[in-house]
Amino acid sequence: MVTFWLKTVWFFASGIQARSHTDSLQDADSAQSGYLPSHNLCPKSIINSKFTLSWKNDLEPNEIIFAKPLVYTPPWLNSEQVITVSSLNMVRIIDGLTGKLLKSRILAPPFQAVDARCTEAGSTIGITGTPIIDPDSSVLYLYSKGYKGGVSGPRGTLAGQYKLYALKLPSLSDVSGFPVVVEGPAENDKSRYFLGGTVLQRASLASVGNSIVAGFAGHCDNFNYTGMLVAVSKIPRVGVTSIVAMMASPGAPQPQELNYTVAKGGKAGIWESGMGFAVDDDRIFFATGNGDGPGDNGSGLPANGKKAISTLQQTTSNFIVTRNGKLKQQDYFQPYNYQALNAAGRDFGSAGVTLLDEDVFRGRGVRRIAISGGKSGRIYIMNGDDLGGFANVLQSIDNAKSLFSGTGSYPREGGYIYFNPLADYLYAYKITLASNGKPLFVLAGKSNITLNGRSTPTITSFYGRIGTGISRTEQRCIGTDICTLNRELDKVPQISIW
Ligand SMILES: *[C@@H]1O[C@H](CO)[C@@H](O)[C@H](O)[C@H]1NC(C)=O
Ligand SMILES: *[C@@H]1O[C@H](CO)[C@@H](O)[C@H](O)[C@H]1NC(C)=O
Ligand SMILES: *[C@@H]1O[C@H](CO)[C@@H](O)[C@H](O)[C@H]1NC(C)=O
Ligand SMILES: *[C@@H]1O[C@H](CO)[C@@H](O)[C@H](O)[C@H]1NC(C)=O
Repeated sequence: MVTFWLKTVWFFASGIQARSHTDSLQDADSAQSGYLPSHNLCPKSIINSKFTLSWKNDLEPNEIIFAKPLVYTPPWLNSEQVITVSSLNMVRIIDGLTGKLLKSRILAPPFQAVDARCTEAGSTIGITGTPIIDPDSSVLYLYSKGYKGGVSGPRGTLAGQYKLYALKLPSLSDVSGFPVVVEGPAENDKSRYFLGGTVLQRASLASVGNSIVAGFAGHCDNFNYTGMLVAVSKIPRVGVTSIVAMMASPGAPQPQELNYTVAKGGKAGIWESGMGFAVDDDRIFFATGNGDGPGDNGSGLPANGKKAISTLQQTTSNFIVTRNGKLKQQDYFQPYNYQALNAAGRDFGSAGVTLLDEDVFRGRGVRRIAISGGKSGRIYIMNGDDLGGFANVLQSIDNAKSLFSGTGSYPREGGYIYFNPLADYLYAYKITLASNGKPLFVLAGKSNITLNGRSTPTITSFYGRIGTGISRTEQRCIGTDICTLNRELDKVPQISIW
């Protein structure tokens, strides 16, 4: 379950002045639509200008950055700051223009990979999920993995602990009442316990009302974990408000596996290759991974997603976050072949969920479209207000290659979606209407080279003007110091790719 990592922090300059509307306070827009309209790059400036490396900062040996760097312009400044967090539990604030380190803090000694029995995430496991900034309070929220008592490891798996930090910007000092230790029974199955040592926080954090919501998966599918969804209040001293297990009784494997070393806890982790949850008001949407056993699909017959199930394996799930921070299951979609996907290691949860702009992407009876996909390569188009339950879906699009990143969108010039499976082309599909009036996406073009597919396409436009859309995906550099920025312009309509 590894997505892109960075050995060095890169920053490319394009002669653009810092503007706060280009800040990135979380991994993408809250709907995960991928569209950021108010940017000041247009295709012409990309074609005509050469991108040069503006600055580069080296990390410590064995330090890895999994989380997306955030960009933040504090209200008292007019220059952007870049915030990075790492596998060593190191938080850095860097001047966006000069690359100068302004502030750094190591939160606690990180958890050691030897105690996770998994080296997928490098030799230490500190901060792996993208944090989120609350711009009203200038507070940065993040999960950090270490050991109980803040000691250095290795100390064994069960000594591991997850804490949610709330750090004031720019001092990086703790908000009073934080950090909050996450630990305890799942409320939908009290015998299933959140054990910090056995789980990994990878999906980007979401903020809903007064709650910070996060998903947890496993380390290489080791241990008796089940995927967990956790809400913690932003209000000091309220603490954890909800812990929900993705596999619970009845339906989860019986008898419950109580030997923590045995990987039969049900699984269904939430990791999404690091993507965030799609948020629409008080609704959150996310994907879950492979599970153990057949779960609730007793009959194998189509089922309504509004009827709650206790085994949310290989699903697109929709919960609401109540005002007092309770997480309530509302709806789900589960592909008909989820057991075959379990058996083949074709994890549905390797990409998150995208919610599209409801003014453009709609059709008869469908106001809000949700999209997800996973290692099987199949992209599922769903009605966000009625996900489909077991085996019902609006449309599916098959690709040979696995999706390890989400779908981006451009709600202008007709409406397009973009996705880039692993080592495959960047595909563009346009929304049309089928003869029954329902939305139907049709292939509009693809890039003329393959890309690594490790990041969700982000589409920007020059202050929303027609003809200025740019789809951006991160191209991982392998073995070389300088990455070539690809400029593939002619094959995908309306959108330039570089
Ligand atoms: C895993 O085992 C531990 C230790 O016995 C137990 O507390 C926990 O509830 C188990 N996990 C699950 C998901 O059942
Ligand atoms: C837990 O399972 C492991 C691996 O199967 C085994 O070696 C160990 O003895 C078990 N522990 C207990 C307390 O049963
Ligand atoms: C689940 O549903 C599928 C599709 O209908 C069916 O092939 C499979 O046998 C079902 N599994 C169980 C355990 O009933
Ligand atoms: C892809 O298209 C661009 C823009 O037209 C062109 O410059 C480039 O040579 C093409 N690359 C390949 C591999 O065809």
